[in-house]
Amino acid sequence: MPSTLARRLDAVQPSVTLAMNAKAAELRTKGADVYAFGVGEPDFDPPAFVLEAARAAIEKGVSKYTAVSGIPALKQAICARTSEVRGWSPKPSQVTVSVGAKHALFNLALALYEPGDEVVIPAPYWVSYPEQVKLCGATPVFVETTAEAGFKMSPQAFEKALSPRTKAVILCSPSNPTGSAYTADELRAIVDVWKKSDAWLIVDEIYADLVYDGFKHVSAAKLAGDAMDRVVIVDGVSKTYAMTGWRIGWSIAPERLAKALDTVQGQSTTNATAIAQHAALAAITGPQDEVEKMRAQFEKRRSVMIEALRSIPGVRCRVPEGAFYAFADCRSLYGVPFKGKPIASDEDVAFFMLEEAHVAAVPGGAFGAPGYVRFSYATNEERIRGGVEAIKAAVERAKKG
Ligand SMILES: Cc1ncc(COP(=O)(O)O)c(C=O)c1O
Repeated sequence: MPSTLARRLDAVQPSVTLAMNAKAAELRTKGADVYAFGVGEPDFDPPAFVLEAARAAIEKGVSKYTAVSGIPALKQAICARTSEVRGWSPKPSQVTVSVGAKHALFNLALALYEPGDEVVIPAPYWVSYPEQVKLCGATPVFVETTAEAGFKMSPQAFEKALSPRTKAVILCSPSNPTGSAYTADELRAIVDVWKKSDAWLIVDEIYADLVYDGFKHVSAAKLAGDAMDRVVIVDGVSKTYAMTGWRIGWSIAPERLAKALDTVQGQSTTNATAIAQHAALAAITGPQDEVEKMRAQFEKRRSVMIEALRSIPGVRCRVPEGAFYAFADCRSLYGVPFKGKPIASDEDVAFFMLEEAHVAAVPGGAFGAPGYVRFSYATNEERIRGGVEAIKAAVERAKKG
């Protein structure tokens, strides 16, 4: 059967967000003003000096391959920044610069997961974690969390999920989709359980600079102690500096794993784009006041979004510690008539909002949390208020029939 597709794809789900995006695009071409609460990227521009650094790199003739794991200056800057803002000090030989944090995670998946392996992932989770595990023939093991527990995995539930087959645990704090972040004590309790296993601990810290109300992000690497040779931190410039399209992320791993990641990446993308690496270098070594301005904007928008969502009768939403997502329990909308049938799932809720209120948001099932909907507040306050008002009006209309 030479023209068949690889069986590894059988287990991978095409995402429902694609269907939603197609519907949103269709509405836009018909002239609808769609509220974009589905997006996972800041609406800001990167700092101007970052763009200038990219232009300067082009002028200087930066147009050749770089070392697979990144230009030395960027790797050094990543280490210096990690030491300054995350409070622990890796060596450049531990850093692999990749084509975004997603690519860093994919390199890790290829370097670590095999058929028969289990990878523990707290739910709700970012969509790519389980799919990358499945693409490698390994099995995701989900640990359910609740809104009441702040969508954070308890040490007890975590312990139950571990087995001799557990190859890795993937944590995301602050989280996409919930915005929840572990406090130092909560994280320490998780790390203590993990230390009793032989598994890798992979922590995605891509949203760590976007925390609110004075929340203090603590890097798991600071708590790992003598188990540091099994810890991997994933980070990048996409969210902090509004540089999603530049595609620069990185992993910081023990040297033996970093070498393996170099081998994996060396056979796929080689290096991340040279010019983008220079832009990322400028971003993390330049003045950080723009980052603080964006963070402060997100903090204000978060309050507006949460307050607005809570004004929809029955909708519940916890106040997230970080990232730019509100994760709302929308089960109170079940039963509202839509296209001749009562709404019966988070997907129905999302399609109802899209078609009847022109609000694009992502159904929670995509993140392993049916009943919920993720609303991104990476858009201005006026749009946030307008979009939620449109939902309320649509619900009232639908209830009246
Ligand atoms: C939790 C999480 N990790 C990683 C990524 C990927 O980041 P990048 O754009 O750098 O690949 C995202 C992007 O949405 C994310 O939400």
